[in-house]
Amino acid sequence: MNCWASRGVVGFVSLVLVLSAGLLASCDKGGLPTETASNKGIGATGVSSRPFGAAADGKKVELFTLTNARGHAMRVTNYGGIITGLDVPDRDGKVADVVLGFDTLDGYLGKSPYFGAIVGRYGNRIAGGKFTLDGNVYMLAQNNGPNCLHGGLKGFDKVIWQAEARQTPQGPALHLSYVSADGEEGFPGELTARVVYTWTNRDELRVEYSATTTKPTVVNLTQHSYFNLAGAGNGDILGHKLQIFADGFTPIDPVFIPTGEIRGVAGTPMDFRRPHAIGERIGAADEQIRNGLGYDHNFVLRTAGSAGLSRAVRVAEPKSGRVMEIWTTEPGIQFYSGNFLDSTNVGKGHKVYHKNYGFCLETQHYPDSPNRPAFPSCVLRPGQTLRSVTEFRFSAE
Ligand code: GLA
Repeated sequence: MNCWASRGVVGFVSLVLVLSAGLLASCDKGGLPTETASNKGIGATGVSSRPFGAAADGKKVELFTLTNARGHAMRVTNYGGIITGLDVPDRDGKVADVVLGFDTLDGYLGKSPYFGAIVGRYGNRIAGGKFTLDGNVYMLAQNNGPNCLHGGLKGFDKVIWQAEARQTPQGPALHLSYVSADGEEGFPGELTARVVYTWTNRDELRVEYSATTTKPTVVNLTQHSYFNLAGAGNGDILGHKLQIFADGFTPIDPVFIPTGEIRGVAGTPMDFRRPHAIGERIGAADEQIRNGLGYDHNFVLRTAGSAGLSRAVRVAEPKSGRVMEIWTTEPGIQFYSGNFLDSTNVGKGHKVYHKNYGFCLETQHYPDSPNRPAFPSCVLRPGQTLRSVTEFRFSAE
């Protein structure tokens, strides 16, 4: 069997990359087509892959590079479905990698605050690590004080996903799937989760989530990339101008659990209906800012409940002119201003990530929904398919 056939679709797409580059890739010992020095960064459309080390259990991990028709690359590993790099041009066409992360797998295996990862089964917090569904009480892994955060001790950010590369008319894509056993981290039902990343030829990252279950369960899948539109490691994000299309938010108590109230943003530091610099009110004498140690809040999107993709966010970095819009089918978005970044993470290119060096905008159902019947439901039952789509659209002004 030749090296292309041995990897099925991945091999085929890598072949597309190589043919469109007019160059030959080499095969490593494992039969994987690898990037050669000569075809790196040449902007050929397609997907290439290379070994990215091994997880704690010895399982091999790969790093995929998706290059769109504009020659811009996105890098993703099948460990945690982590987006390790995303190259986006500024107003002069100068490309920078706008997501925080590490150069090697070891960084992600160590103390990574969910950099770039797929988060599941339940993104955000479930109070007391406990919920009741159909009269049954479920105890979950408690990994955040008494709470269950981002799926527990070993969430979807720390598992190896099955990966398959595809070339689509819209751009290169990576299909990821993971089967989570019944009872994993305390959650009921065997859950089959799928995430498709498409890095489109228009510099849009489309993320499509789907999931099915064998027993009634709760699911909340999201993407935990930390962005800095000036480039990862190039200073803090406090000057970014952020607009969130939300009239309300879910206030939190001092352990980050929603009180159940949906409060209007008007007259508060949470009012991003018009663009504001992230740093403008981040030090305000405000109970919610104090409880979140900055911004760490779920916003109730104006379009919650409507069908199709709606615009949730527009964020612009004034110096580079880079702009990111987020469009989603989800009813909420967690805006987290990187408050726990504490200079202990040495990221790509040996750059240190200090407090507020990145922000996350995690499209989602509201935190603690399993214990809050008034919030939109995140219950998934056998026979149903969860579907959720989010797009991160990049441009420059
Ligand atoms: C989230 C939470 C934050 C924090 C980070 C990870 O987005 O809302 O409180 O836990 O993840 O450090």
